[in-house]
Amino acid sequence: MKLLKLSLTPLICISIISCGGGNNAGVGADNQLRDYSATFTPLPTTSIYPNSNPYSESREQLGELLFWDPILSGDKNTSCASCHHPDFGWADGRVFSIGSDGIGLGPARYGQEVTPIHSPTIMNVTFTGVSNTNVTSDFISGGYFWDLRTNTLEEQAVGPIKNPVEMLGYNIDEKDIMAEIVTRLKAVPEYVELFERAFSVDDAINSENIAKALASFERKIITPNTRFDQFLSGDQMALTQQEIIGLNKFIDSGCARCHSGPMLSDNDIHPGEAIIDDVVVRTPSLRNISATAPYMHDGSSGRLIDAIAVYENRGDIEVNIDDEDFNDIEAFLRTLDNNDFYQGKPDIVPSGLTVGGNID
Ligand code: HEC
Ligand code: HEC
Repeated sequence: MKLLKLSLTPLICISIISCGGGNNAGVGADNQLRDYSATFTPLPTTSIYPNSNPYSESREQLGELLFWDPILSGDKNTSCASCHHPDFGWADGRVFSIGSDGIGLGPARYGQEVTPIHSPTIMNVTFTGVSNTNVTSDFISGGYFWDLRTNTLEEQAVGPIKNPVEMLGYNIDEKDIMAEIVTRLKAVPEYVELFERAFSVDDAINSENIAKALASFERKIITPNTRFDQFLSGDQMALTQQEIIGLNKFIDSGCARCHSGPMLSDNDIHPGEAIIDDVVVRTPSLRNISATAPYMHDGSSGRLIDAIAVYENRGDIEVNIDDEDFNDIEAFLRTLDNNDFYQGKPDIVPSGLTVGGNID
């Protein structure tokens, strides 16, 4: 973590000669502090809850147990945490994910089948779709997935449960799995009690409440107050000169056209502007980027610098950087890291099955 200031030189440079670290024409402008508020605003410091599923500590705690409990998978050996694990920034550190019947965790996991697309992190998903101006009481987060096919976290949560490659496996039919899970959960007295407490009704175990609990837990995992947020809130010393140069290059080279707002993402799909391989996906957030390698929808960029290098000579998407910009932009992107993100792991889950599934 680069918390030490690299230099105490004044941040605002007027002449090229007085500014260290620069390397090309325009270095004066690259060093200069600007008003960034039209492009970026800090990430909210508390999560956002929809009226249909307001904050509740008991829901959040129940959701955490469900997230780690392989009872939600067809063959009782895979959990959400098999592919969204805190040790890998709540993603899985893999190019493509192995779900049902896989064994192991992260790059070491092995199994029969992989997902067709790279697993994103679930950090900050409560803020997905947030912009500089839409954080109001009726903000609704989303959409989700690389193709935006799901609107809310509640809707998303049952997706992997019904997907054979992710959690369903091949021994139960997709149309039967939710009823099967409800039956299984009802047979565990601790779950009966936890659902009743979380939803304040008897007989509270059903698919809708399973989804609500999972979404409540996901909304807990946020990473505000990074150095970039401190900088945007007025602490000019929060970034080093190189990081400010990187920030300015990020804006001037056209990155912020898509990577803007508190999440550094417009959460949009830009038709005709594929970043790699002619496949158009939605702009991902760049928050906590250091924790979530590999990058891109196909995991094809192993390191952060590789993901930046994809943008060299990209007149086709109106972006222009060259190799002497990579390090500055990387330095800036790492100011979006908050390494104190929630990394809790339950010791046991109510089903008595192995916590997380076969991930050891
Ligand atoms: C086999 C690995 C695997 C498992 C198990 C899994 N996921 Fe995922 N998850 C993925 C992949 C891959 C994607 C991206 C899919 C896509 O975009 O089409 C994803 C996407 C998501 C997203 C959307 C994130 C975004 O920014 O759009 C959320 C939220 C999520 N998963 C939560 C969950 C929850 C909750 C569970 C458990 C019920 C779960 N996942 C189980 C691999 C997995
Ligand atoms: C036209 C919109 C657009 C522009 C402009 C743009 N990006 Fe992206 N960015 C995306 C999309 C879409 C993806 C995902 C691409 C994929 O997976 O196929 C992405 C992915 C990334 C990733 C990987 C994130 C992850 O978690 O996988 C990084 C890092 C990144 N962009 C940085 C930049 C930088 C630096 C610039 C400027 C040099 C830039 N982007 C310009 C839309 C854009």
